[in-house]
Amino acid sequence: MAKVKKAFFCKNCGHESAKWLGCCPSCGEWNTFVEEIVSKPATSALGINNSNSKALLINDIDISHESRLNLNSVEINRILGGGLVCGSMILVGGEPGIGKSTLSLQIALKCPDIKTLYVSGEESAQQIKIRAARLGSNDAQCYILSETLLETIIMQAKELKPDILVIDSIQTLYTERIDSSAGSISQIRDCAMQLLKFAKETNTPVFVIGHITKDGTIAGPKVLEHIVDVVLQFEGDSNHAYRILRATKNRFGSTAEIGIFEMQNTGLREIENPSEILISQHNDLSFSGVAIAATMDGVRPLFIETQSLVSTAAYGVPQRSTTGIDVRRLNMLLAVLEKRAGFRLAMKDVFFNITGGLRISDTAADMAIISSVLSSNFDVPIPVSSCFCAEVGLTGELRPVSHINQRIGEAARLNFKKIFISRYSKLEDKPPVNIEVISVAKIEELMKILFGKN
Ligand code: TYD
Ligand code: MG
Repeated sequence: MAKVKKAFFCKNCGHESAKWLGCCPSCGEWNTFVEEIVSKPATSALGINNSNSKALLINDIDISHESRLNLNSVEINRILGGGLVCGSMILVGGEPGIGKSTLSLQIALKCPDIKTLYVSGEESAQQIKIRAARLGSNDAQCYILSETLLETIIMQAKELKPDILVIDSIQTLYTERIDSSAGSISQIRDCAMQLLKFAKETNTPVFVIGHITKDGTIAGPKVLEHIVDVVLQFEGDSNHAYRILRATKNRFGSTAEIGIFEMQNTGLREIENPSEILISQHNDLSFSGVAIAATMDGVRPLFIETQSLVSTAAYGVPQRSTTGIDVRRLNMLLAVLEKRAGFRLAMKDVFFNITGGLRISDTAADMAIISSVLSSNFDVPIPVSSCFCAEVGLTGELRPVSHINQRIGEAARLNFKKIFISRYSKLEDKPPVNIEVISVAKIEELMKILFGKN
C-alpha cells in the first residue's frame, strides 16, 4: 500500500509545499494554496520503462519509422507539423463554447480509415451522437465512451486499440489512486501522467482537452503543459464565427503556424484564404475611414480591414474605443498624430474596429490604423486597391517590419495595386511587377500622398 500523505498545492502553477503559504514562491500568486491528499506514485509509474536504456550516438538513431497519421484536415496537419505523431500527447485549450469538443469530434469523424475513441466526461453518448449528426458523419470508425474514471478509460482503450484517443476534458477525469475530487491539481497531474504513459506504451496519439482560467491560461498545474508534446490554443470571439487554432508549444513542428476556421451550423470549416474573407468586398466603392493592413500571424500573412470613425466629442472628455487592438496602442498612435503631424484630436471621439472579430498584435498594422483615422477625419476615402504595412515610431517615422517580401507577395496575390511600406525596409527579392510599392519615411509624407495635405 502506497504511503498516503497530504500536501499543499498552488492552484495556479501546481507548486507543492509541505505547509500552507500565503504567496506562492514559484508563480507569486496570493492565496492559491489548497490542501490535497496525495499518494506518491511509484517512480516507475511516472514514465516509460527505462531500465534497459542506453546512450546512443545521435547519427545512429533511426528515425525512419517515425510515423505520422494523416488527419483529413490540411490546417490541423500543418499546425501539428505535418500530421499527428504516433505516441504524442496533444493538449487543446480554449474558452468555454469556443468549439474544442466540436473540433476534436470533427477530427475523429473526418478520418474514415482511422479508428478513434472519443471519451467524454461532460456529455452523454446521446448528446455526442446529436452533435455528430450535425457534423454530418456517416462511415467513421468513431467509438464513444461517456466515462470519468481513468482506470476504466485506459482499460477500454487497451481493449479497443484505437488509432487516436480523445479525452474531453482532463478536468472531469479522476483516478482511484488519489482521494481528492476531480479537477483538483493532484488529480489532473496524475491523470495526465497515466495518459502519457498509455500514449508512450501503446504508441497511440492522445488528444486532451483542457479548460482555461479567466486570464486565458490552461487550468491546472503548469506541469500539464510541460509533459505534453503539443499545446494547441483555440481562440476567437465566440460572438463571431472565426476561430484561430494556434500551437503554443510543439515538439514536432513550428509554433509559427496557425489555422483559421469558421464555425458554421455543420461544424468548423477550414479557411484556406483568410484574407479574402476578412476584407469586405466593396466592389470598388470606397468609404472613408477604412484601410487594409498587411499583418502576419506567425508565418501566415493575414490581411485585415481596419475601420475608424472620428467624430466631434459631444461631451467634454473625448471617447476612445477599440475592438481588436489594445486601446493603449491607439492612444499612442493618436498622440503621435497630434504631436508630429499637428493633428488636433483632443476634441474628437475616435472609435476603432477590426472586422471579423479578430485580435491583432502585429505592429505592422500601425500605418493602416493611422491612415484609417486620418481618412475618417478628412472624410476622404482611401482607394480599396491600397494596403499598408509599417510600424509607427514615437518620433513619427515609419519603421520597417519583418517578412516584408512575403507581405508584398500576398498583397500582389490578392490583387492590390499599391502597398505602402517603410522607406527603411530592406527588400530581399524584387517585388512582383503587378504591384506598386510605395516607400514612405514619415507620417507627414503619407498624409501628403494619401490626402494631399501638409
Ligand atoms: P463546443 O465544441 O461545445 O465548445 P467547447 O467544447 O469548447 O466548450 O462548441 C460550442 C459552440 O459551437 C456552441 O456554442 C454552438 C456552436 N456550434 C455551432 O455553431 N455549429 C455546430 O455544428 C456545432 C457542433 C456547434
Ligand atoms: Mg466541450
